[in-house]
Amino acid sequence: VSDEAGALSMRVVSLEDRLGCAAAARAFGERAGLSGRSCAELAVVVAELASNAVRHAGAGEVILRCLADRRGAVEIVVRDRGPGIADPEAAMADGFSAATRPGARRGLGTGLGAARRLASRLSIKTAAGEGTTITVAKWDGG
Ligand SMILES: Nc1ncnc2c1ncn2[C@@H]1O[C@H](COP(=O)(O)OP(=O)(O)OP(=O)(O)O)[C@@H](O)[C@H]1O
Ligand SMILES: [Mg+2]
Repeated sequence: VSDEAGALSMRVVSLEDRLGCAAAARAFGERAGLSGRSCAELAVVVAELASNAVRHAGAGEVILRCLADRRGAVEIVVRDRGPGIADPEAAMADGFSAATRPGARRGLGTGLGAARRLASRLSIKTAAGEGTTITVAKWDGG
């Protein structure tokens, strides 16, 4: 869904949905004037965060918009109503993966760390039982 301001919002419910989100993020970045490299990095960040929302929270929402206070910058918000992340700093460390649901397959634990490195700015707002909102900004050279 796209609103008048040009923001794009997508619901993610299955792991395959991350691919459509990544493609949408790349195209959105191109329209915002980001470099090819930034667009590719943005696509990886969106794919990782969308897959986390599905894998760890069952579903989520991905929002793409231009950052109001900075030209040529894109903001992504990925939010879910899952279990929350007990220790976000620890969760961003490479190799940290904790099962969020009984019987869930463990991942490599590299998604959040990669997202933080590829983002120009990343912040996590999370509360146990309420869900997680991750906000990312991406601009060239950052
Ligand atoms: N949206 C979320 N809700 C709840 N927990 C999360 C969420 N995103 C990440 N986590 C927690 O943070 C951990 C690290 O996430 P990260 O993406 O780095 O690794 P992963 O998803 O386990 O594996 P992968 O390398 O496949 O992404 C997860 O194992 C999970 O415990
Ligand atoms: Mg992950």
